[in-house]
Amino acid sequence: MKNYEIAVIAGDGIGKEVVPASLKVLEAVAEIHGGLNFKYKEFPWSSEYYVEHGKMMPDDGLDILQNFDAIFLGAIGNPDLVPDHVSLWGLLIKIRREFEQQINIRPAKYFKGLRSPLVNPNDFDLIVVRENSEGEYSEVGGKIHKGEEEIAIQNAVFTRKGTERAMRYAFELAKKRRGHLSSATKSNGIVHSMPFWDSVFNEVKKDYPEVKTASYHIDALSAFFVTRPQEFDVIVASNLFGDILTDISGAIMGSIGIAPAANINLNGKYPSMFEPVHGSAPDIFGKGIANPIGQIWTAKMMLDHFGEQELGQKLLETVEEVTKDGIKTGDIGGSFTTVEVADEICNRLKKLASV
Ligand code: NAD
Ligand code: IPM
Ligand code: MN
Repeated sequence: MKNYEIAVIAGDGIGKEVVPASLKVLEAVAEIHGGLNFKYKEFPWSSEYYVEHGKMMPDDGLDILQNFDAIFLGAIGNPDLVPDHVSLWGLLIKIRREFEQQINIRPAKYFKGLRSPLVNPNDFDLIVVRENSEGEYSEVGGKIHKGEEEIAIQNAVFTRKGTERAMRYAFELAKKRRGHLSSATKSNGIVHSMPFWDSVFNEVKKDYPEVKTASYHIDALSAFFVTRPQEFDVIVASNLFGDILTDISGAIMGSIGIAPAANINLNGKYPSMFEPVHGSAPDIFGKGIANPIGQIWTAKMMLDHFGEQELGQKLLETVEEVTKDGIKTGDIGGSFTTVEVADEICNRLKKLASV
């Protein structure tokens, strides 16, 4: 029996709906396998926790999480209760940073049964490798002066180590896929960091002659994601560019509610964290209509991380079949609830288990 201990943080908003739905699906997956045992420990860390305790997680929160095989997180953010910069730096970003989750992997592909806004959504299949620890999301900066002289400054920090790490990861991934890597840049303008990004890219690519490369300015690339996503295989992007690109890649699938993500710790010192691209969606929270697929596909990425790729593939195929059969939430043109979609996925997985 393979045992995995998973820390579960549903967080805020629809995180509280899609996480329990996905845990049911994970249980059905374990049933198919027969030799897998997931042990979950749920933590109530969230904006509500902040209201009660004055912090997003206890002081020893990271020590507690450290011992798990993975962290499965829904979403953080309830701006009515806690300002976003407080809740996010206090939990989500803290975990990404302190646990050195330097890479954020965000796939998107044409998904059967989806209602993509694209005229021709067929056959696109791409992965954005987002640098996840620095870049535009640096802690360097602040608000200075007051009154009319008020000014906010944000310094982007691009280290050679962090930049090269994200690029090498992306080249290795491209080698295993269709052998094409695109770099998201903005070197035509006045952004100092991007000529540096380009020089590292041009240097690193010499080590991967088998990978075809291209560089795109982020503004043009954002448009190409909409007009011709089929041209892309792996895309490497800085923290902020990758953030924006992956809401677009979610949207062209049909909904950001489908898009999965994995925050990977590469040195094996800390657990990785599995958390979808979407946020806490306060506009739909409480109605039971959130699409659970982003969170379920994120669970598939966790299975991959555990070395259970075959099982993960079965799970994704089952999700695709259920979607194709029209059992889907409103954001992708259906009328089913979060729980109904997850239950149908569970039922079909259980049928597979009994074959
Ligand atoms: P959001 O992703 O929460 O929502 C954007 C839009 O997509 C909304 O209309 C929402 O209803 C829809 N949507 C998102 N997920 C969906 C799903 N599963 N099913 C159906 N529709 C879905 O982004 P936002 O509105 O910019 O942010 C809301 C809050 O979430 C903020 O506090 C923000 O900081 C936070 N946030 C957290 C994370 C995270 O924890 N990883 C990610 C993004 C945003
Ligand atoms: C994401 C989110 C986060 C990010 C926010 C909530 C800090 O948008 O995971 O995509 O920008 O990384
Ligand atoms: Mn985002």
